Amino acid sequence: MLELTAITGLKGRITIPGDKSISHRCIMFGSIAKGLTEIHHFLQGADCRATMNCFRNLGIEIEETESAILVHGNGLHGLKAPKTILDVGNSGTTTRLISGILAGQSFESQLSGDESLNSRPMKRIMEPLTQMGAHITSLYRNHCAPLSITPGHLHGIHYNSPVASAQVKSCLLLAGLYADGETSVTEPSLSRNHTELMLREFGANLHSTYALDSTQATVTIHPSEELFGQKITVPGDISSAAYFIAAGLIVPDSEILIQNVGINPTRSGILKVCEDMGGDITLVHQRMEGGEPIADILVRTSQLHGITIEGDIIPTLIDEIPVIAVMAAVAEGTTIIKDAAELKVKETDRIETVTDNLKAMGCNVTPTEDGMIITGGNPLQGANIHTLLDHRIAMAFSIAALVAEGTTKILDNQCVDVSYPDFYDTFENLL
Ligand code: S3P
Repeated sequence: MLELTAITGLKGRITIPGDKSISHRCIMFGSIAKGLTEIHHFLQGADCRATMNCFRNLGIEIEETESAILVHGNGLHGLKAPKTILDVGNSGTTTRLISGILAGQSFESQLSGDESLNSRPMKRIMEPLTQMGAHITSLYRNHCAPLSITPGHLHGIHYNSPVASAQVKSCLLLAGLYADGETSVTEPSLSRNHTELMLREFGANLHSTYALDSTQATVTIHPSEELFGQKITVPGDISSAAYFIAAGLIVPDSEILIQNVGINPTRSGILKVCEDMGGDITLVHQRMEGGEPIADILVRTSQLHGITIEGDIIPTLIDEIPVIAVMAAVAEGTTIIKDAAELKVKETDRIETVTDNLKAMGCNVTPTEDGMIITGGNPLQGANIHTLLDHRIAMAFSIAALVAEGTTKILDNQCVDVSYPDFYDTFENLL
């Protein structure tokens, strides 16, 4: 538990840990590539460590040096049967992406995670993988992990995904590496495209197309003979930067420079939302590194106002909604968040965890079926924040605490380890 009170004047420059989505993918793709993959600025959070340990269990040597993670890939067919059940911890990304790889192997595997992970929906990958010829079952027949995967002969399919989910898309593309023929996935709007960008760098044969008359996006992959190890520097995670963007905007008399942040357009919806809310945000020194756009983000305290957030922007900011809700609680007027039913199947039901905790802080907020309505502008009150072990709830409400009257207690705050072990240390650079 951590006690926090209000502050003013956050000033300075900070660097954010590596992107979680990209860090997972470096380990996975490096493990099934031939030769060495050298990863700099890897995120040492519990989720990415779970991925690393799963691949070690699958026979991959992964070295951790002072400056880099070295993955000694064994090629597309070089994984070995795991000695024990694969422990995916709290990580949905590990579970769904690794399932696509495991479906194409000639050995049996099982995977399981913590209580939250084992209650998250896996039907979204089990159904299309089964259509591809995979043998994947939910051990308790509840469409959740623990999952068991036995060898099957995969063939390419065209899958029309009902949800814009990068985890579903990536799972099927990875299975497609091991399938006969081409595999393609169409999603209702484009979700994060790190898999597409990075797999291409590793030598995979894949291409993306966008429907001209709608927001649908399709990606197609052909099986590869081999992928090849790469050298990668992981950009700072915009989902982690989001807490400091919010802090810079709402804590009085602040000016923060957040350095080396990935601003891939499939991830950067938060920047547009902050601008639309009246936030003073400037992108400095924009550049490309390893196929991903990067910038430094300069944020200054601003008077925010409510807006409506809906439609295709939602997948580009889905993980930032808890902290956007905190900004909305401080902003003048009403913010409406719609089309975000996916929030219900994250580490917690985030419609519930966000609105319950905002209510505890005295905010006028109403949960809806696919989002929430927040009327902001009244001072927040210190409260006991029930994180339910959800890292993004702990971090978002730590920011709310910085502008609340009285003391806020963040219960189980150590869950920030999942994506940002040094979250509270970063603040030291701003005081
Ligand atoms: C992720 C995709 C998103 C996101 C998650 C990371 C990824 O999940 O919420 O934190 O790395 O592919 P969905 O694919 O379920 O939308």
